[in-house]
Amino acid sequence: MKKEAEEIRNKFTADFKAVNDPKGLEDLRIKYVGRKGLITALFKQLGQLSPAERPKAGKVINQLRSEFDSCFQAEQSGIGAEKKTDQIDLTLPGRKPFVGRKHPLTQIFDEIKSIFSGLGFTIADGPEVETDYYNFEALNIPKLHPSRNMQDTLYISEEIVLRTHTSPVQIRVMERTKPPVRIIAPGRVYRRDTPDASHSPFFHQVEGLCVDKGISFGDLKAVITTCAHQLFGKDIKVRFRPSFFPFTEPSMEYDFNCIICRGEGCKVCKQTGWVEISGAGMVDPKVFEAVGYDPEIYTGYAFGMGVDRIAMMKYQIDDIRLFFENDMRFLSQF
Ligand code: PHE
Repeated sequence: MKKEAEEIRNKFTADFKAVNDPKGLEDLRIKYVGRKGLITALFKQLGQLSPAERPKAGKVINQLRSEFDSCFQAEQSGIGAEKKTDQIDLTLPGRKPFVGRKHPLTQIFDEIKSIFSGLGFTIADGPEVETDYYNFEALNIPKLHPSRNMQDTLYISEEIVLRTHTSPVQIRVMERTKPPVRIIAPGRVYRRDTPDASHSPFFHQVEGLCVDKGISFGDLKAVITTCAHQLFGKDIKVRFRPSFFPFTEPSMEYDFNCIICRGEGCKVCKQTGWVEISGAGMVDPKVFEAVGYDPEIYTGYAFGMGVDRIAMMKYQIDDIRLFFENDMRFLSQF
């Protein structure tokens, strides 16, 4: 075995001297240390030796292989470097650095913010981990009241929740400001939903609140309609349906004409021509009492807005989960 190893080493030395290009070097590498190369062949012969001889012979072969490997490594970096300098092409354009872009939902948030800024609203913010008081109690949703069932809540503790809507920001803003108030509050909200194409345990809303003397339901309808027109065009109609929320009275839900078929009926709107956006209504006097506003002097409206729904409609996305998977193939399309 030793003799054979010696022979291979001599042959290698000669071959290695003769090689002078990357292709030849690669052929040589395959011949000696490749999967079917001479070193492998030597290893295969180990089986024929007696167990006593085997370890020694193994060592000899291993030694040989590491000698060869280091020759190849040294030579490869040498030839590789030469090759690189040969191939510099000064006419190539530079490599562009990767530039990110805004997430599609952020783009919709930006659009909505810009629309409401234009209508004189400022932007407010509140915590996503919220107290039971702000998320429910102050919004006229007492403990054990059946209306709590409308929102499947994720509780951190008895008194701390992940906010189920952006409405608690209404309370926080009114507590620290005197009327008139005109704010929107964009943000993320959480509900105990099993994810599917149209449900996600977190999603996004924009809350709106306007309080002053003499604010009417007509103002609310005008603001929502203006928003729809600016988002999707003047031919988009808005539909208001009576509904119930404990913190508004009267309450409604509102729909936009489906922007894909523009009201005709299609797959996106399930042939109805309408897509549900959220709820709205006049601020309930109970809410004004909770924040110390006099309901005899002030009136106001509040609305929610489902941002994910708007984005899904605008970009014709039929699965909400796509927004949250961080798949660049998807995100880079917007
Ligand atoms: N917070 C309600 C929801 O998430 C929507 C809403 C906001 C309703 C403001 C009325 C007024 O469903």
